[in-house]
Amino acid sequence: MTTTEFDAKAADSGAGATAAFLNKQGGAAETPPERVSQLATEVLTAVHDVIRRHRVTYPEYDALKSWMIGVGQDGEWPLFLDVWVEHVVEDVNNAHHKGNKGTIEGPYYVPDSPVVSENGKGTLPQRADEAGTPLLFAGQVRDLDGAPLPGAKIEIWHADAHGFYSQYAPGLPEWNLRGTVVADGEGRFEITTVRPAPYMIPTDGSCGKLISAAGWHAWRPAHLHLKVSAPGKDQLTAQLYFPGDAHNDDDIASAVKPELMLDPQPAADGNGETVVYDFVLDPETR
Ligand code: DHB
Ligand code: FE
Repeated sequence: MTTTEFDAKAADSGAGATAAFLNKQGGAAETPPERVSQLATEVLTAVHDVIRRHRVTYPEYDALKSWMIGVGQDGEWPLFLDVWVEHVVEDVNNAHHKGNKGTIEGPYYVPDSPVVSENGKGTLPQRADEAGTPLLFAGQVRDLDGAPLPGAKIEIWHADAHGFYSQYAPGLPEWNLRGTVVADGEGRFEITTVRPAPYMIPTDGSCGKLISAAGWHAWRPAHLHLKVSAPGKDQLTAQLYFPGDAHNDDDIASAVKPELMLDPQPAADGNGETVVYDFVLDPETR
């Protein structure tokens, strides 16, 4: 039997996301002991307060322990943190930006995707029979003064029309729906891909156990992931969403912002959709 993306297991995508994260991390940040102590003390104090306020029982404490052990065994710490914590880190760190809003990176970015463009135009790697509505995504990258940023780099990755990411679900070509587009001399780009499906975070692992135990849902609205960069500018990490998605208003990862909503239109040639979205990058923060 051949394995397909529909055989995806939480423990496999978790292990993949954990390995990818460990691979990109040079090591822990240089955080002075005073700050470590302050942050750790405040987190622990917040936990203690919850325990006192709700009179947490020993069976509940043991349930927490076994759940946390399970998150580690499934490799789901990157998924857990990116769904329930990263959005606040992103807010705090990018609040000063005057250009485009960004949002969370999530656990499925892979660096160094193949460059697929020529003169700003390119098609993301996809299977010959790739399912999904064709999508032409065009725009321009500029600085805060409106000057185009020639050669800006647009890395794009997204789930397929069944909601699976290459390199994190089995049976998909390595770089399926992942690529790098280099903007032309006027900062313009045109990317041909297909519309992704909404994404359900894996329900058969520890994050899924928390979701079902709490009676939550596991959905993220359909989204394109992007990293846009140019020399001397802060890199923008963003996601773009589609109007009308059932989970735009209750994304489990709290990563939707009104500024990140696309406005796709039927393509002039009748084949799929076209959407225009421009990026404005802030100068390098340092
Ligand atoms: C998760 C998956 C995503 O595709 C995303 O954008 C954010 C989080 C997750 O499974 O944790
Ligand atoms: Fe995603």
